[in-house]
Amino acid sequence: MSTVTAAPVGALSGTLRVPPDKSITHRAILLAAISDRTVRVTAPLDSADTAATLNAVEACGVRVEGHLGDEIVVHGVGRLGLRPPPAIDCANAGTLMRLLPALLVGVPCDHVILDGDDSLRRRPMSRIARPLRAMGAALFTAPGGTAPLVVSGGTPLKGMRHELQVASAQVKSCILLAGLGAEGPTWVHEPTPSRDHTERMLTAAGVGVVRDGDDVGVLGRCESLSLPDLRVPGDFSSAAFHLVAGTLLADPEVRLEGVNLNPLRAGLLDVMRRMGADVTVEEGEPVAGEPCGTLIVRRSRGLTATEVEPHEVAAMIDELPLIGVLGAMAAGTTTVRGAAELRVKESDRITAVVDALTGMGVRAAELEDGFSVTGGERIPGGTIDARGDHRLAMLGAIAGLASVDGVAIDGFEAVAVSYPGFVADLRSIGGVA
Ligand code: S3P
Repeated sequence: MSTVTAAPVGALSGTLRVPPDKSITHRAILLAAISDRTVRVTAPLDSADTAATLNAVEACGVRVEGHLGDEIVVHGVGRLGLRPPPAIDCANAGTLMRLLPALLVGVPCDHVILDGDDSLRRRPMSRIARPLRAMGAALFTAPGGTAPLVVSGGTPLKGMRHELQVASAQVKSCILLAGLGAEGPTWVHEPTPSRDHTERMLTAAGVGVVRDGDDVGVLGRCESLSLPDLRVPGDFSSAAFHLVAGTLLADPEVRLEGVNLNPLRAGLLDVMRRMGADVTVEEGEPVAGEPCGTLIVRRSRGLTATEVEPHEVAAMIDELPLIGVLGAMAAGTTTVRGAAELRVKESDRITAVVDALTGMGVRAAELEDGFSVTGGERIPGGTIDARGDHRLAMLGAIAGLASVDGVAIDGFEAVAVSYPGFVADLRSIGGVA
């Protein structure tokens, strides 16, 4: 386990191109694999998580040329062409473990085991197994509703309407993808809308994605899928660390180029602005059917506390921990509510964020469905444990830059899951992590 110390710095400045979007890279590889054509994916994210997805499709018989981070050419085998091996390792990748079964239930296979690391094995999988079984699939979890999963494919699937209890793009995507092999329409209703990358990509691939009020659906069996070549835009969730660092330290400014600004991902911007952050958006050309642009952030003195409401949570689900860091530097008490989902991410991100903040000398408290943090002049500093969670490791580094004594992060190597170049990027704008 590696420990990295983020020492305080005076100011950050410069221009960064953040890494490609993790969610879109997973989807591009999976949808390219089941396309009827050869798909060129430019700038797919090179990280541990996306490597797991690439390995998984190759293990299912899909030929892939090239390298993540540069360009890959995926020789799609069609929706019914995957031939899974007896076991697939999903590593730490929740998106892979929740989307791949939807593709496997449609192809002839018997007793395929999907497993992952300790963190993934703790995460709830009944949320995909139940709806897929209701459609007729043979997909089973371990007792307790967790991985390993066992899939036997080829049973007839029937479309139906699913009402999700929590907004989840992974569950919605899984159900819609299973719906491509079902008889009749498959509908998903979410309490609030979650990221829609799957819907955008399916539409680009020629699949009719339909809406009925708040429901989204696919209309039945899809004989052919034809994903066009695509470039992966920059990841808003990775940009978010620099946005927060910049709000605390950018002078004169930090520019983040080529960032995906999908409104169902970029909810953090609204919350930051009402706390008093200075973030400007320069809209650019869409990339892969996603709105993209440059974010410019300048240091803000005098941040004020805010309340993040339950309806805001889905559009900033992975950025909520960063509200803890902003809240630590804002006047008053900031609260996040309606975010119980954070308990079932790569770590229990409610407990983990509160422990991290208190470990840095910040006043923070757990709520059942969120957390509260009371701001001060500076973050004192201290030691935190990343708990195998990439986003927690990066949060510690950002907080350390703005702290009095620095922050030491145990288990910093977790950053490789989504952002292996994090330290190099931070250094390039003046941060010494
Ligand atoms: C993701 C959706 C979100 C998010 C995760 C990636 C995706 O999870 O937290 O990091 O790629 O669809 P949920 O769908 O479980 O909310």
